[in-house]
Formats: sequence, structure tokens, C-alpha cells
Amino acid sequence: MRIVQSVDEMHDLALSWRRQGREVGFVPTMGYLHRGHTTLIELMRARSEVLVVSIYVNPLQFGPTEDLTRYPRDPEGDAAKCAAAGCDVLFMPNNLYPSDFRTTVSVRDITTRWEGAHRPTHFDGVATVVCRLFGLVQPTAAMFGEKDYQQYTVLRSMARDLAMGIEIVPGPLVRDEDGLALSSRNVYLSPDQRRRALSLHRALFQMRAMTDRSAAVRIAAGLEAIDSDGVDYLAIVDPDSLEPVDIIDRPLRAILVARYGSVRLLDNVAIG
Ligand code: PAF
Repeated sequence: MRIVQSVDEMHDLALSWRRQGREVGFVPTMGYLHRGHTTLIELMRARSEVLVVSIYVNPLQFGPTEDLTRYPRDPEGDAAKCAAAGCDVLFMPNNLYPSDFRTTVSVRDITTRWEGAHRPTHFDGVATVVCRLFGLVQPTAAMFGEKDYQQYTVLRSMARDLAMGIEIVPGPLVRDEDGLALSSRNVYLSPDQRRRALSLHRALFQMRAMTDRSAAVRIAAGLEAIDSDGVDYLAIVDPDSLEPVDIIDRPLRAILVARYGSVRLLDNVAIG
């Protein structure tokens, strides 16, 4: 596995692959890799000639009061996991943006609700960094985990709207053995918070198992089952527009964010 830290070196490599007509798979991450990430890397390995993983903790997607400085990092451990999962090039830029970087990529409508309502600048930061990474890596396909379901739909819209010619592939949400959705932020949880957080996937699976067609009835049952310090949102939404629905009559998505102290945990399931 080759480790690339320079933006120019990454771009030169990508252009040489493009000239050779190679299928380049890409898994962008912010590092502190867990089994959720390595699952995505292995899945992309199986369908790519060349596989690139990036690790970059992107300041643009953190709000002023969020955890940018204490975001967990483990570059050496991450490199070992990427190599074991079959990555060809690990792109770990020290500095991704030039000092005179001027561009913001903004996806409308589907970014205003849910995470967007709680983190107003977040999706502009995500779309901007992914657009720049796409320019540098020139992938033919990129995988984003469904754990961040709204992020996946936003990036799929961006790639389609801008005719990027990059296939956006959904990656599965991976759970710990006890059912908790894997997240780099799980390390912040105390043992008691982690135990209470198991109520999140139980609530979602309970909502999925119910037969009542009313979204409100299932959401009320879900809220009742959650043990947290606060639920930012629990909704049943259209899987593409992310608009809330009233009646469960087709494949939909139940999406959830709950708080444990200062930690926000995301989870979701397909429903209906
Ligand atoms: O999901 C993430 O880890 C990040 O939001 C991403 C897509 C790598 C952009 O920084």
C-alpha cells in the first residue's frame, strides 16, 4: 500500500490511472477506522481495479462548538487496517485546501432538515470536501455508509446534479455485536451511556416490526422505547427526498439522532 500525503502527488497518480482507463474505487473517511469502515473498504476492494481510501478530518464540516480538536485520531492503526483491507493508496493529506481556496459546494432542499437543522453548515462542508477529494482522486465509484443516511443522499444528489460520472454506492450500516451502530464517536460514551444507547437500535427495530400504517403511531412507540438524554429527531422519511411521511405504504427510512451528554448518535433502518 502506498501512502500519499501530497495533493499534487495524488492528483498526478489519479490522472495516470485515468489515462490507462482504470476503474478507481474510493472510500473517503475521517479516520479512526472501525469495522464499519473496513467493511466498506473490503466491499469496494472487490469491485475496483485500484482502491483509494482517504483520511482527512475536514474542518469545514464541523460547527464552531463541535468536536473538531478532540476528534479521535489513530493514523498508524488506520494505515495498518487499510493495508489489511486491501487498499492500494491511502491518501492522508496534511493540508487539503490551498490558502486561497474560495469555493463552497451547496446542495439545496434535502440538506435543510434533520442533520442540517441541527448543524447548519455541516453539509456544505461535506459536499465541498468530497467534491475536492473527487477532483483529486478522480474515482469511477465511491462508497458512503448508510449509517450517515442523509449524507449519502446528499452526496448522491451532488454527483448526479453535477454530472460527475462517479457512481455513488451505498455501504451497509455495520453494528456491534450488541446492536449499537458503529461510529468513531462511540469512544466518547461512558459504560452507562453505551448501555442506554442500546435502546436506539431496539426502538428502530421495534418500529420496523410494527404493522400499524401510521408513521405517528410508530414514532410514538419508538420515542417511548428510547433511553437517552434527548432525541434530536426520530422520523420516518421518503428514502430519496427525506421528506417525512404520514402513512407507511412503501419502502421508507426511519432516521434517528439521540444525545448522550455531548455525544450525538445517529442510527437508521429501512422500514415499510
Ligand atoms: O462520513 C465521513 O467520514 C465524512 O463526512 C466524509 C464523507 C469523509 C467527508 O469528510
